[in-house]
Amino acid sequence: MGKRIAVISDIHGNHFALSKVLEDIEKSDVDEVFCLGDIVSLGHQTNEVMNALKRKKNIIYIRGNHDDEVVKAYKGEPSDIKGAEQDHHLYIAGHIHEGHLKMLEALPLTEVREVSGIVILMVHYHLAEDGKYQSIDYKPALASLEKHYNNSRYDVILFGHDHMSLHLENDSQLFMNPGALGITADAFSPYAVMDIGDDGSVDFEFKKIPYDRDSFVRELRKKNPPALDFILKELLKEEG
Ligand SMILES: [Fe+2]
Repeated sequence: MGKRIAVISDIHGNHFALSKVLEDIEKSDVDEVFCLGDIVSLGHQTNEVMNALKRKKNIIYIRGNHDDEVVKAYKGEPSDIKGAEQDHHLYIAGHIHEGHLKMLEALPLTEVREVSGIVILMVHYHLAEDGKYQSIDYKPALASLEKHYNNSRYDVILFGHDHMSLHLENDSQLFMNPGALGITADAFSPYAVMDIGDDGSVDFEFKKIPYDRDSFVRELRKKNPPALDFILKELLKEEG
C-alpha cells in the first residue's frame, strides 16, 4: 500500500520553526514523519523541541552528528570537536532533560523502510567505510551520489546535514534532502512531503512554511550560548 510521508531534518533546537511545520504536517494528512537527525544543538529550544516531537505519533527518527555530540558532552565522553563548538555542546547538554537525553542516546544511525516495494534509506549524511560521516560536499552532484550508493539496495536515499534542499534522481535511485528545518536564512522553514503510490511511484513536494524567525534569533542572542557568533554569521547568515 502507498504512503504519504513528511520528511524533516536538522531541526537544531528551533521550536518556533518546528511548531509551524508540525501544524502544516497535521494539515497535510501524512501517514508517517521521517526525521533525519540533528534534532538539537545550535538553537536554544532543546526541551521545547524534544517535547513537541514526543507528542507526535507515527514518527521515525535517526540521530545526527549534533545529537551525538550532545550525548557525548552529557556523558563526559571524548570528542573530536574542540573549542567553542564543544563548549556549545556542553551548554546544550547542561540544559537538556535527562529523559530527552536518553531518547537521543537510543537513536539509530540509519533506518530502512519498505513501502510499495520501494526501499528507503534514512541517514543523516553519507557514511564512510569507518562508519563516520563523510565531509560535506557543498556541490552535491548526481555522479558522486551514484558512486556512493549504486551498489546499495536502496531506491530512495533521504539525508540532511548540509542544510541544502536537494532532489536528484536517475532511472533507479532518488536522492532527497528536505533542507534544514531550523537553520534558515529567511523566515521560511523547509520540509518535504513524499508520496509513494501503490505502484511504487515516488513524488515529492518541497514546502516552505513561514515562522517567527525574528523571535527565534532574538531569544537565541539573549541566551548567548557558546559559538553564538559562528551560529549567527555562518549558519543563520545574520549581519552584524
Ligand atoms: Fe548535521
